Amino acid sequence: MSGGDNLEFEIRPNPAPVGDAERAALLANPGFGRIFTDHMVTIRYADGKGWYEPRVEARAPIPMDPASAVLHYAQEIFEGLKAYTLPDGGVAMFRPDANAARFAQSAQRMAMPPLPVEMFLQSLHEIIEIDRSWLPTSDEGSLYLRPFAYASEVFLGVRPSMEYLYLVIASPVGPYFSGGVKPVSVWVTPDYTRAAPGGTGAAKCGGNYAAGLSAQAEAIENGCDQVVYLDAIERKYIDELGGMNVFFVLDDGSLVTPPLTGTILPGITRDSVIKLAERAGRKVEERPVSLDEWRTGSASGRIREAFACGTAAVITPIGKVRSAADEFVIADGGTGEVTAELRKQLVDIQRGRADDPFGWVHRVL
Ligand code: PLP
Ligand code: COI
Repeated sequence: MSGGDNLEFEIRPNPAPVGDAERAALLANPGFGRIFTDHMVTIRYADGKGWYEPRVEARAPIPMDPASAVLHYAQEIFEGLKAYTLPDGGVAMFRPDANAARFAQSAQRMAMPPLPVEMFLQSLHEIIEIDRSWLPTSDEGSLYLRPFAYASEVFLGVRPSMEYLYLVIASPVGPYFSGGVKPVSVWVTPDYTRAAPGGTGAAKCGGNYAAGLSAQAEAIENGCDQVVYLDAIERKYIDELGGMNVFFVLDDGSLVTPPLTGTILPGITRDSVIKLAERAGRKVEERPVSLDEWRTGSASGRIREAFACGTAAVITPIGKVRSAADEFVIADGGTGEVTAELRKQLVDIQRGRADDPFGWVHRVL
């Protein structure tokens, strides 16, 4: 590949970065996805040329022709991962190789050229290095990295674009839910599904999230934090939430989570939870769970806990489930013991406070 092997990023530092005092004020209460660092990464792609001009530059609006393919046919993919301040002041990312692999899978599903894994990883290193002063040092804070790529060819024909732009932006964040780490309520949407077999449910493409916005609005109208989707065929089995996977904890201490059949996102947190639970001697079953099983299991005590998991949400307990038919609470609606234990284990590894038996922590600085 001509351009694809060139890992030499051209660095063009932001001539007017945010000052120390302003940055400190922003970092005091970052929220989620509201504030951004001084730089971004850009890499271009053209058919026949490969990936070229890898660059670190000042974060700025991207000039875009109104006929850019992404604006019409949504050929776009993204990733989300976090970098953390380590106890010794260093910086590490959590499982970036897994995000690189999923980015390539999403690219394949959306008929986009895969970005070489080395370039993906290098691009994350570059932005962390230049914007390291934006890394929160608080217990709940991290630097959320958002790599993404879109069809930039100026053309209205419906076919894969022949040009793409890959970017990475970075956002210092606190907890995803404004209530912090406390149980959330979920709305079982009767009207919408997220993904059908053969669709794009397993890809991290923007279109999946656009299609979920009405369902999320419905959740809010019904007093819930997040939407939970049922399978598109039988409208019976739990798929996942709008931006998180789901786990159930049974009364024998085992875990159950919906299987990866192509309609849900293969979450990296989901995979990490499975490995951590199994290491602790817990049984983990990947099998369909119906809404009915969730309801009757919560009533009988067979299902003791439920939690959502993802990069943004980490591990967040689910306290209450609401549907068009009824509402039920899981146990006492609080944070379950196993949920809290898994969350602590995961966060301690991510933040370099515990051993890293699976080699997940990728030190950058
Ligand atoms: N499911 C959806 C739809 C998501 O958007 C996310 C978030 O990335 C997840 C699950 C969890 O994936 P991960 O743990 O890799 O962040
Ligand atoms: C993530 O967890 O990285 C996501 O993409 C989910 C989104 C709801 C922010």
